[in-house]
Formats: sequence, C-alpha cells, structure tokens
Amino acid sequence: MRKQIVAGNWKMNTTLEDGLKLAAQVNELSQSLPQDVELIIAPPFTHLHTLANKLQGGKVKVSSQNCAAWDKGAYTGEISVDMIASTGASHVILGHSERREYFGETSEILLKKVKLTLDKGLTPIFCCGEVLDERDANRHFEVVQTQIEEVLFNLTEGEMKNVIIAYEPVWAIGTGRTATPEQAQEMHAHIRKCLVKKFGNAVANATSILYGGSCKPDNAVEIFAKPDVDGGLIGGASLKAEDFIAIAKSFPK
Ligand code: PGA
Repeated sequence: MRKQIVAGNWKMNTTLEDGLKLAAQVNELSQSLPQDVELIIAPPFTHLHTLANKLQGGKVKVSSQNCAAWDKGAYTGEISVDMIASTGASHVILGHSERREYFGETSEILLKKVKLTLDKGLTPIFCCGEVLDERDANRHFEVVQTQIEEVLFNLTEGEMKNVIIAYEPVWAIGTGRTATPEQAQEMHAHIRKCLVKKFGNAVANATSILYGGSCKPDNAVEIFAKPDVDGGLIGGASLKAEDFIAIAKSFPK
C-alpha cells in the first residue's frame, strides 16, 4: 500500500569518478531487488547530471541533498530546483540535521525549499529528528511534531501526497548508535498520527516514513519489520553498494 523506499545519502563523499563506480555497482546489484522497492541515491550536486544520465530508465532514482530557497537570481553558489530538475534528478533531501545544525536551516527556510521542490514537480524527502538532550528530556515527540507542523502543515493535501518523510534521531546519525526498532516504530506512529489529524487517514496512510541513523544490513530487517517504518535514509552504509542493497532487501516478505 505504501511505497517501500531506501535512499542513500552520500553526503560530501566521493569524487565524480568514485561516484560513477559506486552508482554502477548499485545499479547492477539493484536488478536483484523486488520490483516494488524504490531505490534512490543522493550524490553531491556535481555528480547529479552524469549519474542521472547513466541511470536513466533503470531502477535507481537520483536525488540532490539540498536546494536553494529561491527560484533563481543573484545567489552566488546556490543551486536551484530548476537546475536540479534539469539534471534528471527526481528527489530533493531537505532539512537534514547536518543542514539544520551547520547551515542554520530553520523551518521557515525549509518551508520555502519544500514548496519550491513541489512546485517544480520534484519529490522532497523531508527530514526530522531530535537531538540527544531532547530525547533525554523526554521531549522527542514534541520536537519532531513541531518540525512537522512548522513545515509540512503548511502544505495542501495534494502537496503532502508527494512528500516522503525521514525520521532521523540526530543522536543515531553516523554514531553507530541506532534507535531500537521500538523507538523507531513509536516515533513513526506518532508522525503518522500527526498527519492523520491534519490531512486525514488516506494521506497519512499513503505517506512513506523512512528511518535514518546508523541503519545497516545487520539491523535493517528488525527496523523495517515495524508497521510504520517504510524504509530507510542511509548515510554511511550507502557508500558500499553491497551494504546498501542488502538494506534494500531487508523488507518483510
Ligand atoms: P548514517 O546517516 O546512516 O551514517 O547514520 C544517516 C543520514 O544522515 O542520513
């Protein structure tokens, strides 16, 4: 009923040459995946056009890791959604905790980016998640709910249908520390409940919610077995084609 999705966030890794090799391996191994699993890779901007071209017509889709908050104009160094679309990429990761932390991305900025992405016909992968202090203070549900409300609650029902959500507890990203399957499930269920309130059952039940944060081949089976987990946003393990594909094979049969 919901799409099963595994997306690889390469972050600031790989030269173009390395990226070409990795994408070719992922593409080849992806042939062995069940038809209904959607596979996305998010390389650096510099690789988008080359990789989207190589992967065209295949199983693997291409995403950027960010976009500008403006349509076009005098914004030196920025990359617009139109530019991303023109490379053949189909998705845009937005609101990753590294963007929020190191680049000061606020809900206000993210709302502009999400809207631009949707307006141009691309699919946002909207990230949310709490930091360790917030979890320790038992504020994680409230923090994630606010992140969702401040951005996604400004969308129409029609727009929300084209959004993918990624829950990434910040304390689990790149740390080797993973949320337990139960912690992932309870947050995903909470996010879906928020969506039900604002957009109704049909939209909420059709929205894919991915888990991210040290998701690896050895823990993906347990995490993906949870009813509200619809896949993963994978960082470190997406840089190894075999691991990335093993994760994509971890959905319950
Ligand atoms: P990780 O990163 O899998 O390396 O923890 C996940 C992410 O930041 O998307």
